[in-house]
Amino acid sequence: MTQQQQPRIGIVIGSTREGRFGEKPAQWIHEIARQRTDLCFELIDLRDHPLPFFNEPMPLSYAPAKNEAARRWADKLATTDGLIVVTPEYNHGPSAVLKNAFDYACKEFTRKPIGFVGYGGVGAARAVEQLRLVATELQMAPVRNAVHIGMVEFLGIWQQGKSFDDFPHLAQAANGLLDDMAWWAKALKTARETA
Ligand SMILES: Cc1cc2nc3c(=O)[nH]c(=O)nc-3n(C[C@H](O)[C@H](O)[C@H](O)COP(=O)(O)O)c2cc1C
Repeated sequence: MTQQQQPRIGIVIGSTREGRFGEKPAQWIHEIARQRTDLCFELIDLRDHPLPFFNEPMPLSYAPAKNEAARRWADKLATTDGLIVVTPEYNHGPSAVLKNAFDYACKEFTRKPIGFVGYGGVGAARAVEQLRLVATELQMAPVRNAVHIGMVEFLGIWQQGKSFDDFPHLAQAANGLLDDMAWWAKALKTARETA
């Protein structure tokens, strides 16, 4: 597969608030991912896509967005063959800004794989499970393996001067996630191109 044919995976930073932790795991997974030769990756920061709260007259499955920021967001998604979403957990669900970003596109998600890196008390497991349901409705294929950065690792990295390398099981989980993404991204890209 030439570099141009390699599936392109967007790594979405799912928190935009000031002082967010989210960019640390996003940069970490991006660094591991970039060592692969079978996929290419791009960090997608929701701060660069300041979407208003959803306010379109129609669901986007019926009509394209009227909002310019939403159209730019959809155009960015259209360049990807899959997503890795780096998600916090807010009140046992995903951040509002992340759910809003899912609501603000439709066909650009369809028939592409999605994987998750979660962080928080229980590695954002509850938020990730909710996002799997949202992604399924958007006709994405959620992959099984995920990275869950739990309380000990989360606080260690954020507040105790530790690094991701101090927790080698995280890189092991990341490789499982990336292997899943590679398989599904190739299979679904081929299927989309030949359908
Ligand atoms: C509104 C809100 C709700 C939260 N709820 C949870 C929660 O349900 N589970 C959890 O593990 N952490 C929760 N937290 C703590 C977050 O895990 C922590 O603030 C984390 O840094 C958020 O990610 P961010 O810094 O990238 O925005 C919550 C934080 C906020 C701001």
